[in-house]
Amino acid sequence: MTMYTTRILPVDPHRPQTAPIAEAAALLQQGEIVAFPTETVYGLGANALDVSAVAKIFRAKERPAYDPLIVHLHAPSWLPRVVRAMPECVWALAERFWPGPLTLILPRTDAVPDSVTSGLDTVAVRIPAHPVALALLEAADIPLAAPSANRFGYTSPTTAAHVLADLNGRIPLILDGGPTHIGVESTVLDLTAEAPTILRPGGVTREALMEVLGKVQLARQPAADEAQAVPSPGLLPRHYAPRAHLILFSGPPLAVYNAMQRRLVSLLQRGATVGVLLAAEAQPLFAPWHQTAHLEVLGTADDAAAFGRHLYAALRRLDENGIQFILAHTLPAAGLGLAINNRLQKAAAEIVSLEG
Ligand code: TXA
Ligand code: MG
Repeated sequence: MTMYTTRILPVDPHRPQTAPIAEAAALLQQGEIVAFPTETVYGLGANALDVSAVAKIFRAKERPAYDPLIVHLHAPSWLPRVVRAMPECVWALAERFWPGPLTLILPRTDAVPDSVTSGLDTVAVRIPAHPVALALLEAADIPLAAPSANRFGYTSPTTAAHVLADLNGRIPLILDGGPTHIGVESTVLDLTAEAPTILRPGGVTREALMEVLGKVQLARQPAADEAQAVPSPGLLPRHYAPRAHLILFSGPPLAVYNAMQRRLVSLLQRGATVGVLLAAEAQPLFAPWHQTAHLEVLGTADDAAAFGRHLYAALRRLDENGIQFILAHTLPAAGLGLAINNRLQKAAAEIVSLEG
């Protein structure tokens, strides 16, 4: 793998300056890879139509070839560059949600290399709602394949510092536009299935999609409700995983907080270091441990957006502090709560479901 001296160029997230954008666009046109902010998380971009540029993404991230990439576009007028056939509903979705955190799975053209789609006959596309990403796409004038800019299997980056921590020396440039606004990845919606199907819940809610499409299926995800306490780590499909052993509690709030307190006490008694991800409402219940545990208050329980914005940074902070165990709870499974719960479930080594 090529090693680089990774440079960080600051860029105004609202009104991106021409010079850093032009520099990043030139690198992309030369077949290089560049990290840049989107409204969800930082992406690691490359020319989606250039096989050797795309290969650099997989090498830098140590990402396995079976995981396909999202192609980022500047405007709906770019769709024909990578998409072969458009179902009617694309236009209504584009009108309502683009630019924004919605990724559509559509039939692909031959211009899209197999490495982008993992050999599938479909391609994932979205138009990001971030002035820096849009300015970069416009200046480079190429569709950009861009997965989240983290090492494979680790937490997605929501700041340039997160990108640097994972990819220092592996990429030439990071455009630093400050912390991202949404904090969890886009919703992935398959429009090639019999009915529109959410493959990954994300920044655009199922409820909002249903307003446009009527019926929207949810691909089967391992739901906390149905999961039993898992005896050993590694049995769940972990993906957005912190290094710490994350224990996720779900059920009625009081039962959940109670079980978390008991687990916290027993872990501390064993001499373990423990972090707790909390809704603001629960903070008073955990006040007795504010010096013995690392409490991370993410937002109020009815404000899933605040949870989303702070979740990945909190997970990284706990890892940086060498925390061994993280206790967390699910949110009400509506709106953005669905995406938050999905990421927490994927990060969890153990799920504890409590009855009502
Ligand atoms: O918010 C986001 O989507 C961020 C920013 C950078 O845009 N990107 C992102 O990319 O999360 P990544 O590579 O970490 O996740 C891409 C997701 C994966 O779950 C992948 O399996 C799915 O999209 N995907 C990509 N192409 C697909 C395809 N042709 N069919 C089904 N799923 C696909
Ligand atoms: Mg990712």
